[in-house]
Amino acid sequence: MNTRVLTGITTTGTPHLGNYAGAIRPSIQASTRPDVDAFYFMADYHALIKCDDPARIARSRLEIAATWLAAGLDPERVTFYRQSDIPEIPELCWMLSCVTAKGLMNRAHAYKAAVDQNQARNVDEDDGVTMGLFSYPVLMAADILMFNANKVPVGRDQIQHLEMARDIAQRFNHLYGQGQELFTLPDVQIDDEVATLPGLDGRKMSKSYDNTIPLFEGGSKAMRAAVMRVVTDSRGPGEPKDVENSHLYTLYRAFAQPAESAAFRQALEGGLAWGEAKQQLCDRIDGELGPMRERYADFMARPERIEEILQAGAQKARRLSTPFIERLREAVGLRRSVPAAGAAAVHGGTDKAKGRPARFVSFRDEDGKFRFRLIGGNGAELLLSEAFDDPKAAGVVVKALQQPEALKDLAKEIAGQVSVTVDGRLVCRYGSEIAADVEKALASLGS
Ligand code: TRP
Repeated sequence: MNTRVLTGITTTGTPHLGNYAGAIRPSIQASTRPDVDAFYFMADYHALIKCDDPARIARSRLEIAATWLAAGLDPERVTFYRQSDIPEIPELCWMLSCVTAKGLMNRAHAYKAAVDQNQARNVDEDDGVTMGLFSYPVLMAADILMFNANKVPVGRDQIQHLEMARDIAQRFNHLYGQGQELFTLPDVQIDDEVATLPGLDGRKMSKSYDNTIPLFEGGSKAMRAAVMRVVTDSRGPGEPKDVENSHLYTLYRAFAQPAESAAFRQALEGGLAWGEAKQQLCDRIDGELGPMRERYADFMARPERIEEILQAGAQKARRLSTPFIERLREAVGLRRSVPAAGAAAVHGGTDKAKGRPARFVSFRDEDGKFRFRLIGGNGAELLLSEAFDDPKAAGVVVKALQQPEALKDLAKEIAGQVSVTVDGRLVCRYGSEIAADVEKALASLGS
């Protein structure tokens, strides 16, 4: 079975070279693997926790989307969306909040750090702490559990959040699962192979250290200007360089094949001047980023194209989240007040929600198999299909059931149970007492 890999990017800034080498490039690479089902999204609800500047949030969402697309993310392959386009996520966040111990959140590093700082400053320990910051890990758990992710690639600073997501999922499963796993327990994925780029001063490249090299912003010129400011030692041209302690070499390696890096090392040890070495590094970076920069400018010039891609991504994601939240609502007792399944026949036609068309709803179950439900015009579930390995097979059955009078040939009633068989395969069963409702619903679909 495919591994579902999911990760989020908080939309508060403009991606820099370190983000590219440390997250964007490896994530896009992983998404091309045939056994990976990738979900990458923009955590723009999370952004609101850190930033109250609407213009900056809006700009960052656009820049981050354009960056991933320009860097080669294939939106046909990856489910690429904005968190805020999936209303089921905040809904799930609330359900999870209601089973999450406050004490668990008290232990979250980010919250604790804020409290420590306040104590050091001798002010109220919750000074400046919002509920958003405090419950940040619950929203993150909702992001992950909504799509039953198996693996979540993140930085080390996020390990605790993943542990919390597992805790919360376990508690929810225990309370509401009735022996079934409603949520898959996600595993954190820390990739030690991935390059952590040093910034200009040699510390980890990070906006908070103000030591970043821009990725696309300002074009090649801005990137080169920044590289020229990378701190080196005072050894002059002709002097052998201390390669092991050179950030410039670490940067070079992130953009070169091993053999090329070895040649660069030799040149440095042979006395290559820092200025010349910086030029070579810039050429390498430009070689990789050049074509992407053009695509980036293209996307930024046409935000409506980005919007279209993200809307399609949201639709793809919601094909999973809509039926799943329905199931979770049922699990916690937020059922529709219309009687479900069996009882529907008795009350058929008297329901308030009359007038809505009957419909098929397809979804992926806990085991990753494909199923569909038939929902009657009154909103009640009439039938739940067997599981299919292949969404196309499920689609074929849904089509077959919509043929006029389909059930005449396909359905058999034995001892109060109707079994429906398509191409020799049992596709669903329901009680005889609702047979009339099923027929009515299918007839309304066919017409
Ligand atoms: N908290 C993550 C970060 O700061 C971003 C994020 C939000 C995320 N939701 C997520 C990452 C879900 C992985 C899965 O990096």
